[in-house]
Amino acid sequence: MKKFINLIDEKLKQAFVAAGYDEKFAKATISNRPDLCEYQCNGAMAAAKQYKTAPINIANAVIEELKDEKAFEKIEAVMPGFININISSAFLADYVNEESQAEKLGCNIEENPKKIVIDYGGANVAKPLHVGHLRPAVIGESIKRMFRYLGNDVIGDVHLGDWGLQMGLIITELQERKPDLVYFDENYTGEYPKEAPFTISELEEIYPCASAKSKEDSEFKERAHLATLKLQQGYAPYRAIWNHIIQVSVTDLKKNYGNLNVTFDLWKGESDADPYIPQLIDILNEKHLLHESQGAMVVDVRTEEDTKEVPPCIIQKSDGAALYATSDLGTLIQRKQDYDPDMVVYVVDKRQEMHFTQVFRVAKMADIVSPKTELIFNGFGTMNGKGGKPFKTRDGGVMRLETLIGEISDAVYSKIMENRSVSEGEARETSKIVGLAALKYGDLSNQASKDYIFDVDRFSSFEGNTGPYILYTIVRIKSILNKFLESSEITSDKMIPFASGSEKELAMVLARYNDVIENAIHELAPHKICAYIYELSNAFNKFYHDTKILACEDADKKQSYVNLISLAKKALEECIDLLGFEAPERM
Ligand code: ARG
Repeated sequence: MKKFINLIDEKLKQAFVAAGYDEKFAKATISNRPDLCEYQCNGAMAAAKQYKTAPINIANAVIEELKDEKAFEKIEAVMPGFININISSAFLADYVNEESQAEKLGCNIEENPKKIVIDYGGANVAKPLHVGHLRPAVIGESIKRMFRYLGNDVIGDVHLGDWGLQMGLIITELQERKPDLVYFDENYTGEYPKEAPFTISELEEIYPCASAKSKEDSEFKERAHLATLKLQQGYAPYRAIWNHIIQVSVTDLKKNYGNLNVTFDLWKGESDADPYIPQLIDILNEKHLLHESQGAMVVDVRTEEDTKEVPPCIIQKSDGAALYATSDLGTLIQRKQDYDPDMVVYVVDKRQEMHFTQVFRVAKMADIVSPKTELIFNGFGTMNGKGGKPFKTRDGGVMRLETLIGEISDAVYSKIMENRSVSEGEARETSKIVGLAALKYGDLSNQASKDYIFDVDRFSSFEGNTGPYILYTIVRIKSILNKFLESSEITSDKMIPFASGSEKELAMVLARYNDVIENAIHELAPHKICAYIYELSNAFNKFYHDTKILACEDADKKQSYVNLISLAKKALEECIDLLGFEAPERM
């Protein structure tokens, strides 16, 4: 479906051309003086230079061509040459009527759908999800849903950290604790047990303990390095332990991501890149890209245009060990073989930007990805606690994501109990849904690349630019619609032309839906969807405040109101689904 603003552009273009001016000047924008008009066109100012006449002359000539235009309720030229436009209610009603019947409220499905891999989440096995994992999960999930909305073929991959030193640390610590396990008996030839020799809570305790030990005990660290190497070389008993670690960890991760309403299509990890590393080395050698530097094998990725230092990308350390970049390049070989994607988007901490600059350059130089493949680094900023410092628990430790989710849902719970007389059980259920919205909206409403302050009180407030406020608005509309249906039959699914004021303003915001959403998707910008639904919620609440909806005596008018707010509800619901949360029935 065409964008509302483009329909206005089309009318303006015809008028510019009819008046003898180039159509390139005919561009409408949303008015920045809503007290004066709804849309405006500033093209006469630019055209004046080309045509060497006063802008007001051009503006006057253009509006003369539009004086009988039915789409505009008012069009006027004002000094020095602005064209101010108000839309006619009938024209607006036609548009929103079409929108309400259209698939995805008039968003246009991609003409050439893309195959897109989204690399997000990035959890490390055997370590519990902590607050640092909130952003990649929440932002990545939203971007995945957004691309999918426009008909792209999107594959979400969690890309686990499952292959590094942490594995050797766990194996070594396990050997200290349980030396009698068959995995540590070199003469053992039988099958390895199916059951893991630890639970998730043990595993989560083993890792930090081993990590701390390795910092003090260099002999222990050496053994852990050796164990890592043996694992990577395929030593069967360690492989068996590794499989247990993955299985126990992934089960737990699925549960925790599930609580965030985050799901992945692929549960691949760094380990899956390992088989592609020999091939990677071959490709780099064939292209003469690899050279030795201080004992390591590296690829130079600097270019003339660089304004800051871009160090060489290290592919192999002197002991032959692979590095983070090696694993990401191996993964790209695998992704090319499996999907040959048009785009790979990495939702990763912005502090890793240099790493991805290096990886992308090597991938392009060595044709590891197709020329068509766009590699996008969507780096996010840090989530800080109040006071602008990185988020910590009271005793200074790293806060588990579960604890954070618990805190926000408790905050919402007490608000619900304060306000209403619902049962404790219902309040608990509702606060989980609303708490998740508070958390996700609090995050997504900030531009991803910026740092932000996580503020439980502010995020869980039912007023202001928050998730709960958006949900509250949806719940309010649902309740009006339910009441309507209790006493009335639906007589029409159309809206009749709107009265000026908050009714028309609400319709105006709705008419922009496809424009805003498509744009937010193309810019990978969930925060633009947040800004839009905040505006939409405000517009609805103003309308609700000004209007007796169900008490309206004119049945046609009442039906039209109901259809308008149904459309608002649908738009809000589509948007929160894109953001990755949902609304409760009541709150
Ligand atoms: N596991 C990594 C970390 O904790 C994030 C992984 C990001 N994705 C990637 N392809 N490197 O920093």
